[in-house]
Amino acid sequence: MASLKLQVNGGEHSVEADKDTPLLYILRNDLALNGPKFGCGLGECGACTVLIDGKAARSCLIPAGSVQGNPIVTLEGLAKGDALDPVQQAFIEENAAQCGYCINGMIMAARALLDRNPRPTVDEIKQALAYNLCRCGTHIEIIKAVQRAAE
Ligand code: FES
Repeated sequence: MASLKLQVNGGEHSVEADKDTPLLYILRNDLALNGPKFGCGLGECGACTVLIDGKAARSCLIPAGSVQGNPIVTLEGLAKGDALDPVQQAFIEENAAQCGYCINGMIMAARALLDRNPRPTVDEIKQALAYNLCRCGTHIEIIKAVQRAAE
């Protein structure tokens, strides 16, 4: 056990945990941030995606001790007060969720994409979200939502 200091959604949090504990477990179990989802636990589905240093990262694979000092943003940290992030708003307006389980990862990966490329092509959107799995099949709406957020 160690005392880990994590910067999450603009605040510093101290957590007693083994430094190898997956970041996802700390976010969900210790900080009650349930935006990131547990899907595969193997880095393959993208449901657990968060932003670390502004880049999309799979929190199920990242030892919490390795990201002390790095800014971490979860789905809960995207909104500014009552104002949703434009990506969140666009996903609602395009009805881009069916079961919704993948949506955390889709939104976080889309946010990272738009931060580095504000006007992505459809191919660039597909490429950026290619490793975020959706089994319901709302891919068309998801792509439209990312395009809407980019407007
Ligand atoms: Fe992390 Fe699937 S739960 S990639």
